[in-house]
Amino acid sequence: MRPKVLSYVAFLVFIITTQSLPSANAVAISRLPKVYDVTGKRVLHDAPYYISPVIWAKGTEIKLTDTKDNQKVCPFYVVQDPAEVNRDGLFNFVLTGRKSEMYLLTSHTLSITSRSPNGSCDESSYWQIPDVEAKAPSNFITTGGSFATAVTCFLVMEYPNLTNPKLHTYILQHCPSFCGAGPGGCYNMSLYADNKEVRYLGYSGTAPFVFVFRKPK
Ligand SMILES: *[C@@H]1O[C@H](CO)[C@@H](O)[C@H](O)[C@H]1NC(C)=O
Ligand SMILES: *[C@@H]1O[C@H](CO)[C@@H](O)[C@H](O)[C@H]1NC(C)=O
Ligand SMILES: *[C@@H]1O[C@H](CO)[C@@H](O)[C@H](O)[C@H]1NC(C)=O
Repeated sequence: MRPKVLSYVAFLVFIITTQSLPSANAVAISRLPKVYDVTGKRVLHDAPYYISPVIWAKGTEIKLTDTKDNQKVCPFYVVQDPAEVNRDGLFNFVLTGRKSEMYLLTSHTLSITSRSPNGSCDESSYWQIPDVEAKAPSNFITTGGSFATAVTCFLVMEYPNLTNPKLHTYILQHCPSFCGAGPGGCYNMSLYADNKEVRYLGYSGTAPFVFVFRKPK
């Protein structure tokens, strides 16, 4: 009994000391856990949402596409494509290790999935980045991952709009080492245009893609 209690106390002390390190990240985690949609309501955990830029227009929301350079692809890419008006763009943000959580949290590891029908594509709908440090298109997000693995490990981070601080705007980061082995640190997700119309979500080292959550009607 005694060694068990001691190791529990040691564990608690470990938690307390690691949690109270004066790191900017820890402050951000305690102060900004909540995620709000564009109407100011809290975003639900593991529920379908559209994600789009603040200034929304048809084709600017994020969707899956089954076509790249006029070829059918499987798994799908995650894109902004003005031509893909018929395809669904609803995504569930699923926190790792928090099945019963009611609301989505920022700064917490999660995986992203879609409930859209996938036709003949026999791949799971979890977003992954096969190799974030590789060249395009291997650093683009595709479907085909599994829940809570290094390649499907993301964070939603608050990213306030300074000219309009009331907007609830966010960026997405890919942090492979937070869910398993992989390159350390986090990679900002941005949009990469490989032609004029289609923009791929992935890692390109450019300005992060800033988005809002919209709940479907
Ligand atoms: C896509 O198809 C595969 C194989 O039929 C299935 O396992 C998977 O759940 C499907 N994904 C969705 C989102 O329907
Ligand atoms: C802030 O929001 C406005 C819309 O209210 C938008 O025009 C502007 O691009 C946003 N700024 C940034 C840095 O995203
Ligand atoms: C991610 O984007 C934020 C905001 O632009 C920036 O402060 C940060 O340095 C970026 N992180 C990386 C690893 O590029």
